[in-house]
Amino acid sequence: MKVNLMDIRRQEASYAAEYEAAVLDALRSGTYIGGPWVEKFETEFALAVQVKHAVSCSNGTTALFLALRALGIGPGDEVITVSWTFFATAEAVAAVGATPVFVDVRPDTYCMNPALIEAAITERTRAILPVHFYGHAADMDAICAIAKKHGLYVIEDCAQAMGTIYKGRQVGTFGDAGCFSFFPTKNLGAAGDAGAVVTNREDAEKAVRAYKVHGSGANGLEVLEAGYRAQGKALPENMPRGTSKYYNYLIGYNSRMDAIQAALLCAKLPHVPEFVEGRRENARLYNKALAGSGYTTPFEGEDCRHSYYLYVLCHPNADAIMEKLKEADIGCGRYYPIPLHLQGAFAHLGYRTGDLPVTERLAATSFAIPVFPELLEEERAFIIKTLLENDQ
Ligand SMILES: Cc1ncc(COP(=O)(O)O)c(C=O)c1O
Repeated sequence: MKVNLMDIRRQEASYAAEYEAAVLDALRSGTYIGGPWVEKFETEFALAVQVKHAVSCSNGTTALFLALRALGIGPGDEVITVSWTFFATAEAVAAVGATPVFVDVRPDTYCMNPALIEAAITERTRAILPVHFYGHAADMDAICAIAKKHGLYVIEDCAQAMGTIYKGRQVGTFGDAGCFSFFPTKNLGAAGDAGAVVTNREDAEKAVRAYKVHGSGANGLEVLEAGYRAQGKALPENMPRGTSKYYNYLIGYNSRMDAIQAALLCAKLPHVPEFVEGRRENARLYNKALAGSGYTTPFEGEDCRHSYYLYVLCHPNADAIMEKLKEADIGCGRYYPIPLHLQGAFAHLGYRTGDLPVTERLAATSFAIPVFPELLEEERAFIIKTLLENDQ
C-alpha cells in the first residue's frame, strides 16, 4: 500500500464535474486575467471569511508582499515574525526592504509566543507578522493587544489556515491584513499558484489593488494622492491624470490571479467546511490511537478550531521513524527542516544555533503524516500500525 502525504487527485475526483464545468466556463469566456470569475471569487471569499475586502493575487508570497507594501513597510523597518514557518513569511519582509526579527514559538501550538514579542520591539518595529501554523491559530487577542499598545500593524500569515477559527472567527480577520495561499495542496487549493489579501481597511484594499497592477488606475492615483497629502503636499500640477490602466502612479508589480484559478476556487470554496471536517476527523482518530504512546500529538487550544493543513507529530527519534515510514511507502516530511533564523539567506542577521530553542527542537523532532480528507480508513490504520511499531 502506498500513501502519499498529500493527494490532490483524489480531491479533484470527488467534485470533478463541478470543478471542470467552472474551469471550462472560464476557458471559453476568453477573459483570462481579471473579469467576472475573479470578481465572483473575491466577493464569495470575502463573504466566506467574513471580511470587508478580499483582493485576489498571484500567490501567498505575493499576498504577504503586497500587504506589507500596502501598509507602507519598507527599508529601515523591522517586522517581528517567527522562524518556525515557510521561508516566504520572512522572505516577503526582506523583499520589501524591511528586516525580519525572529521570536520563538509556543511549545504547544507551534505559533508565535506572545510573551516574547515585547522584548523584540525596537523604535524601528512597524508590524507583527504571526503565522497560523499547520492550521492552528496564533494568539490573536494577545498579539493585537501588544500591537495596539505599541502602535504596530498586524499582518496575519494564513497560508496554512483556511478554515481555522479563532474565537468564532476565521483567522485573517483580526489584524490589519490577512494573507492566504491557494497553493494546490492547501485546504482551499487552486490548480496552480494563487493567493489573496483580506482586510477591513479601505486604504489597504486600495493599495493592494493598485500595487498588484503596476500601480495603475484610480486606485493608484488615490494611493499616490494620499501619500502626498500625508506629507502636506498636493500632487504635481502637470502630472497626467487618468483612471485607465496606462496611467501609472506607483512602482508596483504584475501579481494578478488568473480567471481559471478563480473559477476553480469558486467551485471549491463551498466545500471547504467538509474538507476541514475530514481533516479534523482524521486528526481525532490519530490522536486517539496514539494517546499514551511516545508521540506528541498536535494540541488544539481552547480558543481555536484547528484546520489541520498539516498533522504534525513530535518524537525524539523522528528521523529514524520517518525512514521507516518511507520504507513502508507512507508519505511524510518535516515542515520545515531548517528554521529561518538559521537559513543562509538570513545569515547576515547574525542569529546562532540556540537562539530559538523551541523552534530548533521542533526542527529536529517533528514530522507530518497524511491527513488529507480523502484518506481511506485502511490507509489510516496502516499508518497508525507503522507508527506504533516504530515507537522507540
Ligand atoms: C506559512 C506560509 N506562508 C506563505 C506561503 C507562501 O504561499 P505561496 O506558496 O502561495 O506563495 C506558504 C506556502 O506554502 C506558507 O506555508
